[in-house]
Amino acid sequence: MTETPLLPAEFAGLDLLATMVIVVRADGECLFANTAFENTMRLSRRTVQKAQLPDWLDEPQRLTETLAGVAANQYSSSRFDALLRRGAWAHEDGLPVHVIVSQMDVGDDGEARVLVELIEISQQARQDRDERTLDQVQATKELTRNLAHEIKNPLGGIRGAAQLLAMEFQDSNPELNEYTQVIVHEVDRLQSLVDRLLAPHRKAQVVGDVNIHEICERVRSLVLIEYPRGLSITRDYDTSLPDFRGDREQLIQMLLNIVQNAAQVLGSRIATGDAQIVLRTRVARQVTVGKQRWRLALELHVEDNGPGVPAEIRDRIFFPLVSGREGGSGLGLTLAQTIAQQHQGMIDCESEPGLTNFRITLPLP
Ligand SMILES: Nc1ncnc2c1ncn2[C@@H]1O[C@H](COP(=O)(O)OP(=O)(O)OP(=O)(O)O)[C@@H](O)[C@H]1O
Ligand SMILES: [Mg+2]
Repeated sequence: MTETPLLPAEFAGLDLLATMVIVVRADGECLFANTAFENTMRLSRRTVQKAQLPDWLDEPQRLTETLAGVAANQYSSSRFDALLRRGAWAHEDGLPVHVIVSQMDVGDDGEARVLVELIEISQQARQDRDERTLDQVQATKELTRNLAHEIKNPLGGIRGAAQLLAMEFQDSNPELNEYTQVIVHEVDRLQSLVDRLLAPHRKAQVVGDVNIHEICERVRSLVLIEYPRGLSITRDYDTSLPDFRGDREQLIQMLLNIVQNAAQVLGSRIATGDAQIVLRTRVARQVTVGKQRWRLALELHVEDNGPGVPAEIRDRIFFPLVSGREGGSGLGLTLAQTIAQQHQGMIDCESEPGLTNFRITLPLP
């Protein structure tokens, strides 16, 4: 009898997937498991082959029955949740997974083969959340852009009319000037708000080779000029990260908005001298941004030891005009997110008192 090759050519494609995929016979014997499964289980391919897949789940019976049902054509696919036990690591808590069992085909030996996918539940929850965020950001972006245009158009007219009125009353009723000045002043304020809302959509991207650490250094020194005392900005760089194509000025703006926010909430710690911001860069592999998958990406983390994002706005900080800050216009993060998206990336945030982490993910070539 010939030995089964470790990576049969027909399964090679499955090896590229980030979710765990196992091909089994109807009785649960593993014929193939992809790299994602091996990595999670910390097992070698040789160990996995010929093992019984149901043995690795908390309720083996459930999978055994499903496999039999699918193989016998009772249904073409089935899903359920389970806990995955890691062989040699039995003392660890099981890993919550979503199990999808689907009919595959009949192998050379005439036996039915069944495909089992295991999706880590936390990973899926996170991916769902990221997708939702991107969809929401897209929807609000459209809305704000249209609204901003609608507001912008009449502003010029209002301002002009106020100035005409001022001229008209200059001699007869000079005390009314005060009112026209209020109108002009408020119109100008609205005008600059609307300009900031529209800014990211207006400028064409200027694309060149950029180095993420050069951007970090630049932002770091800009912020330190503003906060010369009491704030330390630590770097933790993975210098193996390659350059990539992007708009340098925009990326500086993006990072500046995030680091500035951190510095702003660190006020009381800056006063006592223990305010900390960390700029951390890392390589990430096989990342999904929205619905697109990238083999390689960079992650830039901006961490601060401030009070955390106020709970009542935590879900909405990337939306325009959401601010938890006295005098804040609530546009900094919206703009940063737009810039990240223009680079096919995204920004997300995890925050609790004492540790806030903004993570910028940007795909690499
Ligand atoms: N690192 C952080 N820690 C705690 N809260 C934060 C942090 N970063 C942002 N926030 C909260 O998110 C809000 C939105 O930030 P955003 O930059 O979009 O607007 P803003 O800073 O209020 O105004 P601006 O348009 O001037 O930037 C902030 O007002 C603040 O409440
Ligand atoms: Mg801001």
